[in-house]
Amino acid sequence: ETRVPAASHVLAIDQGTTSTRSIVFDAEGKPVATAQREFTQHYPRDGWVEHDPEDIWRDVLATVKEAIEQAGLAAGDLAAIGITNQRETVVVWDKTTGEPVHRAIVWQDRRTARTCSALREAGHEELVRRKTGLLLDPYFSGTKLAWILDEVEGAREKAERGELAFGTVDSFLLWRLTGGAVHATDVTNAGRTLLYDIHAQRWDEELCALLRVPMGMLPQVHDSSHVFGTTTADLFGAPVTIGGIAGDQQAALFGQACFAPGTIKSTYGTGCFILLNTGEEAVASDHGLLTTPAYRIGGRMTYALEGSIFAAGAAIKWLRDGIGIITHASQTNDMATRIEGNHGVYMVPAFVGLGAPHWDPEARGTITGLTFDTEPAHLARAALEAVAYQTLDLIEAMVADGGSTPHAVCIDGGMAANEWLCQFLADILQLPVERPEHLETTALGAAFLAGLAVGIWPDLAALAATRSSNRRYVPAMDADVRSGLLEGWRRALGSTLTRN
Ligand code: G3P
Repeated sequence: ETRVPAASHVLAIDQGTTSTRSIVFDAEGKPVATAQREFTQHYPRDGWVEHDPEDIWRDVLATVKEAIEQAGLAAGDLAAIGITNQRETVVVWDKTTGEPVHRAIVWQDRRTARTCSALREAGHEELVRRKTGLLLDPYFSGTKLAWILDEVEGAREKAERGELAFGTVDSFLLWRLTGGAVHATDVTNAGRTLLYDIHAQRWDEELCALLRVPMGMLPQVHDSSHVFGTTTADLFGAPVTIGGIAGDQQAALFGQACFAPGTIKSTYGTGCFILLNTGEEAVASDHGLLTTPAYRIGGRMTYALEGSIFAAGAAIKWLRDGIGIITHASQTNDMATRIEGNHGVYMVPAFVGLGAPHWDPEARGTITGLTFDTEPAHLARAALEAVAYQTLDLIEAMVADGGSTPHAVCIDGGMAANEWLCQFLADILQLPVERPEHLETTALGAAFLAGLAVGIWPDLAALAATRSSNRRYVPAMDADVRSGLLEGWRRALGSTLTRN
């Protein structure tokens, strides 16, 4: 029998690649308060991306407090906190002081590209694929973790003596929120490290030896919906239960209520990540997709097939912060609408290499088809179009891996606010695209997981019942126009790839 707690709100911490958000949801799953902060990205070298874990921690504290206050609540009114996070990003900290020994190395960082190709050439990819569902790419945590141990003076010795802890961002936050009492993570985050056997559901000795990671620094792995611990009372004025953890893309799948095998979601944040729920079956891909835990509840694992695109919103951010042709992301909607066609301009946003299905860490971004009358609007449109073409490439790969063509694609994330993009997506995918009323499905998914653990919601059906109606975009593009566009995209892509 589940007890309905007096406190009926759930707070989700969504620690993303470029910003940290805290959102309070009520028992109907409606967001009632949101606080958000962007933080500094460090790019110390070509292809390197780092975050300061102290920036992240500072913003988590600030946004949690702000969201609680904005909702007119006190910490004691929260039934639980759920954490969702940018995945794969590596934090290593000292177990005694809680201090990170290096800046966090971000999932986008390519510094271990050579390590990965050496491992691949030595024939280790098959083992990695079989156990982890991933492949040897710098995207995942394992080789970055080893890099920190090798490069930070004394780190490897300390790690071997059991003095250092490794965690993805969720785990680091959990540690800090519990005052160092809990060193844990959930299956969706563990499943992105290259060190976790997603079938046996445990850290794998052979993989840890291969990547030279001492097992004593790894967190305990739990269900995604689980009472992980309690925040120390000094942080928010009262202790709060931490009831759920999931990587942000898995949380979005959960928040979209994609609980049935065959359901699919695509999230347009910094990157774009498409997940297809495959139920209790871990489907292996022959087309460059990843097999990954979607969530584990009550000890039962649900798996997903994933296509990962590294730059979606990041390309728009570059238009704004890098070359300054826009001042706000929303301008791209009008720019793309205003021009007739794409004028033959294509952008392949391989700023940090290409993920699925190509896995080309050395590729770099290209813009093709420039003429003297190319305008900023064409670049903006090319960045948006690229997102749709890449989505198509991944859905085709999923179908080739044996998935049936989905009935519709549920989308979310910041870029899904762009109406032009939603329609263009439907046109290019030739599938209905469904957008929920609230785009914060990642945070909602974390809230769902935490709320389930403490009895705010009894089961998955109750979660699905909170979902409001979606806005639907249906394909309307002329077939010839579409195939012309796809041909242009494939040519641009071909000139960007360095592998094959
Ligand atoms: O795998 C990386 C992913 O979790 C990052 O998500 O939303 O920060 O782009 P986002």
